[in-house]
Amino acid sequence: MIRIPVLLSLFTISSMAETTFNDNIAPLIHENCTGCHRPGQSGPFPLITYQDVRKRSGTIEEVLLDRYMPPWKPVNENIHFANDRRLSDEEIELFSAWVEAGTPEGDPEKKPVLPDFPSTWYLGKPDLVLTMKGSFEVPAEGRDIYRSFLFPLQLPEDKWVKAVELRPKAKSSVHHALFFIDSSGEARKDDGKDGQAGFRGMSFLRGQFTAGGDPVAGAFGGASGLGGHVPGATPAKLPGDLAMFLPKGSDIVMQTHFHPSGKKETEQAELALYFTDKAPDKNLVPIQLPPVFGRTARIDIPAGEKNYLVEDRMTLPVPVEAVLVGGHAHYICRTMTMTATLPDGKVMTLLDIQDWDLDWQDRYQFEKPISLPAGTVLKSKITYDNSAGNTENPFSPPRRIKWGQESTDEMGSITLTVIPKNKEDAPALTNAQRSHLVQSVARRVMPEKEKMEVQSYDSNGDGLVQENEVPARFRRQILGRYDKNGDKALDQEEQAELQKGLNALRSLLTR
Ligand code: HEC
Repeated sequence: MIRIPVLLSLFTISSMAETTFNDNIAPLIHENCTGCHRPGQSGPFPLITYQDVRKRSGTIEEVLLDRYMPPWKPVNENIHFANDRRLSDEEIELFSAWVEAGTPEGDPEKKPVLPDFPSTWYLGKPDLVLTMKGSFEVPAEGRDIYRSFLFPLQLPEDKWVKAVELRPKAKSSVHHALFFIDSSGEARKDDGKDGQAGFRGMSFLRGQFTAGGDPVAGAFGGASGLGGHVPGATPAKLPGDLAMFLPKGSDIVMQTHFHPSGKKETEQAELALYFTDKAPDKNLVPIQLPPVFGRTARIDIPAGEKNYLVEDRMTLPVPVEAVLVGGHAHYICRTMTMTATLPDGKVMTLLDIQDWDLDWQDRYQFEKPISLPAGTVLKSKITYDNSAGNTENPFSPPRRIKWGQESTDEMGSITLTVIPKNKEDAPALTNAQRSHLVQSVARRVMPEKEKMEVQSYDSNGDGLVQENEVPARFRRQILGRYDKNGDKALDQEEQAELQKGLNALRSLLTR
């Protein structure tokens, strides 16, 4: 008796405000889906017209309810991102109501204006357009391909970059691309070595890592990122007067992940650069934990290991504002979290990904910059599942997986991009990163305490340290740097310099 009027009133309400494509669904789809789901973009089919959406309404409802689409990985509770793609519960309910109502189109008078996507560069006229060196054939079928390509540049002066926009030619196959600055010239040497345009892996990063004996220049200055190209993500200029530093003489390297799409394609991408004249008042400083994409963390995951953990932490020496966060790993990574423990004990979760997917490696922009005082401890925590139960495992049966540049190797790091609150604090922040990196590297390459005394190298006791007395793996670092006269041995004077270096290293390690 009570139910009938309720049902009746529900019926009248819903028929009064009937959900239609023209009124409710078109704006929802055009705003949240069409950017990717249109010809030439990454979405496998267009979602533009009434017919497009009606035809797939069942699948769409499923992917919305699963929150599989729109793609979005962070699940942070208390921190919001400006570029959040997620739909609200109400929007998802609206779509379900439309399916329930039988997917009506609505008043023909109210046909939606179809969105107009700019056919030329999204951000307007670029300052410089670069073309990838050579062209690369992506086969129709087969395994995913990771490959790095060179955009030769070597400008005579330093530049500040507001934005980059990629125009791939192999549009259906490009899943994502990341841009790196190579100021070591290593990428040029690698390019085309195997007879095809580009090169495999990221060894140019390693080149910079040891170049000139200053790993910091490589890890922060040299191999810094210029952002990424994620399918369908709209290119955006950095807010305010922020800009990315592009040192003179450097090249741009694009690391591309191709996913064969069923048709053969040829990649020869174009890259548009947008500069700003003046150096920004504030500088973006990326803090990568662990540094060098996890190289310093000695990632080594036994076959079958379900919950392999990589952790790193660093204390901020100065107050900063955090603006962006993003992670990098390969297939078997499962979770990625970064927390900030403030000096008052409050813990903030800056990034929380519980379902890592290497295909969606976005940079997440905080809705408002987050103030982190000096003394804040940043902690990154990355887990991997190398068991047969992980459907993303590239090996069956599972194999031991170590850090490396192939996609079937692993990497792992989280990068928090910050702005020092006071400009004059920037060097202190860089120094803290320098010590953090040197400590991580030193622990990896020089664990033996006894090797901290120069005499211990002189095994034949003739007063000289000959090349063959230095363990092979330190030879390049030690002789390259301290054998000033190039006679392949260190005399007393050169040994004194080496001892100074070792002392500095020891004091860093024991800090
Ligand atoms: C950032 C780009 C992007 C956005 C935004 C996006 N999609 Fe997708 N969508 C893709 C890609 C790429 C695929 C194919 C790869 C995959 O399934 O992961 C896909 C696949 C799909 C599929 C097929 C899933 C399946 O299991 O076959 C559906 C349905 C879909 N999207 C609906 C939507 C809807 C609805 C929206 C908006 C609410 C949306 N997508 C927003 C990129 C996007």
